[in-house]
Amino acid sequence: MAHDNKMLGVLLINGEHVTLAGTIDPQIKHFCYEKAYLESMKGTALSLSLPLTNRPYEEPEFKPYFEGLLPEGEARHALAAQLGAREEDYLTLLCGILDCIGDIAVVELPEGEKNWEDLLSLAHYEPISLSDISCSLTSSERVAQASLASRLSLTGTQHKLGLARMFDDKKTLTWLRPLDGAASTHILKAGQITRIPELEMLALSAARSCGIKVASAELIELQPGNIAICVERFDRQISKDANKKLTVLRRHQEDFSQALRLSSGSKYAELEPSSAKVIAELLKQHSARPLDDIRMFAHIALFNYLIGNCDNHLKNFSLIHEGKWVRLSPAYDLVPTAIFPRFSREMGMNIGTHRNIDEINSRDFSLFANELSISPNLLRKLAKKMIHTLPSAIMVEAYKQEALGFETLSYDAEDLVDDLQTRLHVLESFVEG
Ligand SMILES: Nc1ncnc2c1ncn2[C@@H]1O[C@H](COP(=O)(O)OP(=O)(O)O)[C@@H](O)[C@H]1O
Ligand SMILES: [Mg+2]
Repeated sequence: MAHDNKMLGVLLINGEHVTLAGTIDPQIKHFCYEKAYLESMKGTALSLSLPLTNRPYEEPEFKPYFEGLLPEGEARHALAAQLGAREEDYLTLLCGILDCIGDIAVVELPEGEKNWEDLLSLAHYEPISLSDISCSLTSSERVAQASLASRLSLTGTQHKLGLARMFDDKKTLTWLRPLDGAASTHILKAGQITRIPELEMLALSAARSCGIKVASAELIELQPGNIAICVERFDRQISKDANKKLTVLRRHQEDFSQALRLSSGSKYAELEPSSAKVIAELLKQHSARPLDDIRMFAHIALFNYLIGNCDNHLKNFSLIHEGKWVRLSPAYDLVPTAIFPRFSREMGMNIGTHRNIDEINSRDFSLFANELSISPNLLRKLAKKMIHTLPSAIMVEAYKQEALGFETLSYDAEDLVDDLQTRLHVLESFVEG
């Protein structure tokens, strides 16, 4: 093991402040919150699956949260290969990562007293050209190399980089590569499959027009014909300190797999008695605004159905921690998969009694509303508005993107609007009751 079974420190980074929240002993496989962290008034649990307590957590209890911070599939394979570590050895893969989802970092615990702020003393940014970004996104190996250089870990399966950016006085944009613990503020995802960035862009913008809170996004042409989507990280906030120095604040965040103590591999599992019910219960218990968040979840679910996003699994929904409460994060990774014949038509979670997007019927939406403990009439109201808004919102966004130079977007938009017609009719029959 690269970390030689040494104790690991679990840190929370916010601007220049670093707090030791807990430690992992890889030998006896225990995770423990720090006494001082537990005593501090600001203590936030790392995960809903790891409530604050002074008893040690066993590995089956803490592994899903920590392993859930790593990339998946081929991306994880490439990361392990770069480190010369085994893929299953999730602690070795995590050790030394200073820029994760949210505000967490995992490092080897040094002997003796430690001034944690020193950890970020080398943090800095370096300009990176669009062609270098493009090059770093071409293969899983290159993505893993770039992520390791930035000491960064982003979950998911698509090729992606964590970057920051700066505008000079003339509003010229420079992309920046974060190094040695500097915080990324944007995620750039390349399309391993053509048209995915364009379709994700249309979906995110259309979702916003339908009243859904979404991550801000834009398309970037990295090289002629090579288009990536850039999303602004909602777990980061740029602020100026008292001396007008720019700092990046980080917000604590976890996905639903982590919150429910499930491995990333179980992200498509339908939960008992149903995923909708489990998610609604979780939000009822832990959200600072449960009714708003359940309603927003229902809204996103309707949108995913209509736009044909079957990849709406448990890692594509997140919670932002605010003290001892959570809020549903803005929506992200809204990719209309149903338009591609190669992708599965099984959705990430059931709507009513069905999971296959072509089998979901109007009765399923009433059942879905019941599972979420919201009135079917409220769901009807959301659906009615979406039926009227979505097709034109997709076209309007396409024209906007064309004006910015992304010329094929109206073809993508027309295909998308054609593709959603059958589902639009199903939703209409639900609305009509
Ligand atoms: N705008 C964002 N702000 C903060 N975190 C994000 C944002 N978008 C995605 N993430 C996090 O990054 C992970 C990977 O991003 P995602 O878009 O889902 O990639 P993939 O297409 O590979 O699944 C998500 O599961 C989520 O935890
Ligand atoms: Mg995802």
